[in-house]
Amino acid sequence: MDKFQIKGPCKIKGEVEISGAKNSALVLLAATLLFDKPVILKNLPRVRDIDTMLNLLKSLGSKIILSKDKKIVKIQNKKKMKTLAKYSLVKTMRASILVLGPSISKFHKSIISYPGGCNIGSRPVNYHLSALKKLGMKYEIKQGYIHAKTNGRLNGAKINFPRISVGTTENTILAASLASGKTILKNCAIEPEIKDLTNFLNAAGAKIKWSGRTCSITGVKSLKEINYSVMGDRIEAGTFCIAATLAEGDLQIKNFNPKNIETELKLLKKAGAKFKTFENKIFIKGPKKIKPIKNIKTKEWPGVATDMQSQLMVLMCKANGQSSITENIFENRFLHVGELQRLGAKIKIKNSTATIEGNTKFIGAELMSSDLRASVALVLAAMVSKGKSAINRIYHLDRGYEKLENKLKKIGVKIKRLK
Ligand code: UD1
Repeated sequence: MDKFQIKGPCKIKGEVEISGAKNSALVLLAATLLFDKPVILKNLPRVRDIDTMLNLLKSLGSKIILSKDKKIVKIQNKKKMKTLAKYSLVKTMRASILVLGPSISKFHKSIISYPGGCNIGSRPVNYHLSALKKLGMKYEIKQGYIHAKTNGRLNGAKINFPRISVGTTENTILAASLASGKTILKNCAIEPEIKDLTNFLNAAGAKIKWSGRTCSITGVKSLKEINYSVMGDRIEAGTFCIAATLAEGDLQIKNFNPKNIETELKLLKKAGAKFKTFENKIFIKGPKKIKPIKNIKTKEWPGVATDMQSQLMVLMCKANGQSSITENIFENRFLHVGELQRLGAKIKIKNSTATIEGNTKFIGAELMSSDLRASVALVLAAMVSKGKSAINRIYHLDRGYEKLENKLKKIGVKIKRLK
């Protein structure tokens, strides 16, 4: 199993190119199941979750042609597609559930492995299933699989989601795009990746309109051929902005829209970062002394992203005073805390709130990754620790960060991948 070795502390300086957004690319790939015509997607991030989704599509019968650098894909579906999404593919990535909505809408049948829990929480799919049921999907759960079917096209419906959920909103939009009649979805998640999805679908002929958290979809019979570029990854960009703030950095971060991380940038400003934003890039400098921030709370977009919670915690460990972070989205997303404590962090957890003492002098140590964002937090902490750290099980990190060690090396981090 690969691990990272990092020698700290390092200051960082230079340019970073942000890759395509993993969470956007995943749902756009699932959306290709709705098409008879070919779809070209550009700016794919080269990360493991994308390989998993491409393998899943292949197993359903899609023809996948990748460019040499694997950043552009052309997908053409067969006339008769398969409907079984196997456990072996679904178990490694919960986002596989996103093929259910398009499959049931287009092929009227889907048998998909029921996704299990994961390290950051139980992550059920009950909202996905009940929303699709309202559009006319019938299903049973047998031997670990969701057996779903419908008699002909799904029917538009009015749905008020009981909780804001990114995946549920996406799955339901995908299904409703080809349903008969109008669907009105209330209490939707409105993350930028979801807007990327509806921009993509509308460009292919779908009829989707937004008003705040309400999404209206008039079903169409088919979608047109399309060539589309995935948005830049706001979480990767945010991670580098936190890195700059943490390590007295001086970075130019390119190929993403800084508006997509406005909330997190406000926090970094409070912590002392200085930055200038442009349409597609940011210049950011970290302070000598990091200021603490009380009451950081993760929330659905446009709130502070849960996917940046662990990185912000590392930053607060180095602030010159006490701070606190409350995790409101996932029930078990403090797995990085134990590892940060091994580096010397003083953090106390009570229910969903972490109180962080600050003024930590991190000392390098051997660490273990537990999930995607927790692993990148450990990388940030190791960068500002004195001495050598080793971060084990970075396969978690490879799921969502493209060539992270190369990007970090380029800006001055002493990092090595050990096989
Ligand atoms: C997506 C993102 C993930 C991000 C999360 C929150 C992808 C591939 N992943 O995950 O990176 O951290 O949004 O921004 O885009 N829930 C239920 N029942 C359901 C569905 C969700 O109880 O049927 C709960 C979840 O357990 C969680 C909360 O709702 O506590 C929000 O989850 P959701 O927004 O659905 O996250 P994902 O789509 O899984």
